[in-house]
Amino acid sequence: MQPLWIGTSWKMTKTLEEARAWTTALTEHLGGRAPEGVQPFVIPPFTATTTVAQILGQDSPVLLGVQNAHWEDEGAWTGEVSVPQAKDAGAQIVEIGHSERREHFGETVETTRLKVAAALRHGLTPLLCIGESAETKDAGESSAFILEQARGALEGLDAGRLARVVIAYEPIWAIGEKGRPATVPELVEPFAALGAEYTGRVQGLLYGGSVNLENAADLLGIDHVTGLFVGRTAWDVAGYRRLLEIGSAHAAG
Ligand code: 13P
Repeated sequence: MQPLWIGTSWKMTKTLEEARAWTTALTEHLGGRAPEGVQPFVIPPFTATTTVAQILGQDSPVLLGVQNAHWEDEGAWTGEVSVPQAKDAGAQIVEIGHSERREHFGETVETTRLKVAAALRHGLTPLLCIGESAETKDAGESSAFILEQARGALEGLDAGRLARVVIAYEPIWAIGEKGRPATVPELVEPFAALGAEYTGRVQGLLYGGSVNLENAADLLGIDHVTGLFVGRTAWDVAGYRRLLEIGSAHAAG
């Protein structure tokens, strides 16, 4: 069986000192081995990429990512970081299309497609985030909307490339302080739609949005869900360790 991907983006949080403390505590806890049945990953802000990479060390069971990367390899793109630069700093995953980037930084289906291609070109794993607004959900169009986002970003990929992609479904209405945790029944249909198209064809179908220690096990039980992408609950390393344990228990059946 494929491992359950359980990871966190720190978004725009943590100083280097805080990044060091979190990563050191996790590596000491894991002792060089991933929890059975689980693929852990962490996505710090760019400033902490190399620091976290150094603490994780070579052959770490924890994959390291960046929260964004440009589609060009280099050039006059002030404020941007390229995939080769992210790779050079130790990243193995490129997060693409988080709703916060779509909303505030002009990320579109077109730019997500270019960024997925760039990540794959350089051998990194694209972690494509998709998710609908509350209005789209209320209109009953969640599944159609997220499928359009996914198809647009993954258009033209052959089976081999598609198999390296991880998709995270993160409904906007469920993310962050302003979000509310999704209920299991609300997620059944979107995951059925995603699963019908992508299960067995991509590396993972993750759920994200207000994942916490109370709902994590139930979320992992939804058909087609193969992991969790977590914000706030995992920013405290004790919370992340608990989530890894929940994942491992789920994997063990
Ligand atoms: P929260 O878990 O804090 O709601 O954030 C989810 C998320 O956006 C992960 O990318």
